[in-house]
Amino acid sequence: MTIKVAINGFGTIGKRVADAVDAQEDMEIVGVTKTSPSFGCQLAVRKGYPLYCTFDEEDKIAAFAGAGYVCKGGLSELLSICDVIVDCSPGKVGAENLEKYQNAGVKSIFQGGEKHALTGKSYTSSANHIENLGVNCTRVVSCNTTGLSRTLVPIYELVQGKGSISVNSVMIRRAADPGDSSKGPINAIKPVLKVPSHHGPDLMTVKPEIDITSLAVAVPTTIMHLHAITVNLPLGHGLSTEKVLETWKNTQRVIVMNGTKNKITSTAEVMELARDIGRKWGDLHEIFVWEDGVSLQDNTLYYFQAIHQESDVIPENVDAIRAMMETETDWKASVEKTDRAISAYYGI
Ligand SMILES: NC(=O)c1ccc[n+]([C@@H]2O[C@H](COP(=O)([O-])OP(=O)(O)OC[C@H]3O[C@@H](n4cnc5c(N)ncnc54)[C@H](OP(=O)(O)O)[C@@H]3O)[C@@H](O)[C@H]2O)c1
Repeated sequence: MTIKVAINGFGTIGKRVADAVDAQEDMEIVGVTKTSPSFGCQLAVRKGYPLYCTFDEEDKIAAFAGAGYVCKGGLSELLSICDVIVDCSPGKVGAENLEKYQNAGVKSIFQGGEKHALTGKSYTSSANHIENLGVNCTRVVSCNTTGLSRTLVPIYELVQGKGSISVNSVMIRRAADPGDSSKGPINAIKPVLKVPSHHGPDLMTVKPEIDITSLAVAVPTTIMHLHAITVNLPLGHGLSTEKVLETWKNTQRVIVMNGTKNKITSTAEVMELARDIGRKWGDLHEIFVWEDGVSLQDNTLYYFQAIHQESDVIPENVDAIRAMMETETDWKASVEKTDRAISAYYGI
């Protein structure tokens, strides 16, 4: 069975999810939406993705032809031909869209800009694939929460049965995506004055067993988020720094590298590494952990990790589709399939 996937919102996340889906043998893109004819339509045309209008109004659909684009119809028409729709609209417009998907009887996936309450289910590949099997609606958590899940779930699993873990995390957030011109700050460090920030509690929507809190600050950079994480391990955890590193080195979608030896001492070099890998847009789907920044002292584990905000969630959307459609019950098998297909797509 080929899963017919639609993308509503062909922006930063939507265009990436479209390519990741297009790369898979078991899925196809049946259409992507734009609100109006703008330069992003060109990319859809070049990729051969059928172009639809986000809205059903005749004048909005007709505007595409006026700008020289073939628009196949409105959202309702797209919903009539897909099995699942990936909503990549800007955060907080989801509620209105969800109603449309439900009325059309189409499964839907939302992104981290929406609240967990909208869908009642959230998703990361490593934390709760099984719980999302067959659901009609879920939300792939934000880039930061995805990053927390990738490295913390394996630590949780290492000490499972020996006691609980608690986590304090500080999220040093990029101010804007590279393509944004309207966000900031550009000359300040801006604390998120809501304490805890939403990131830690958000992880608990996919892994409630991890007791985590978080603080966040936005800094004037566009290329990555950085997390400084402290994990309080149970007494008698039996772990060492080496054991933790070995675990992450064997964890899918985590890259562990020695920053000093490899001369990758900041997010700038991590992004250069990503560009060298060769995925489109210079994306880094993996979470980057600095080996020499990891230290386990008594019962406390300290580490730093870097998150490519525009892309770590992309392969998770593909795995979430398989969970909802119940075509792959084993999350590791799905991750393997997703990542192998994306690598082949880009010839890497
Ligand atoms: N960017 C990131 O770093 C990042 C990371 C993880 C998760 N997310 C989440 O992913 C979601 C999308 O973010 P983004 O960064 O991709 O935003 P974006 O670049 O602004 O793209 C959003 C797209 O949605 C379209 N749109 C506007 N109103 C819409 C509506 N009512 N229904 C459907 N589509 C609509 C816009 O279309 P037009 O261009 O045609 O006007 C735009 O292309 C958000 O929930 C965000 O929080 C973002």
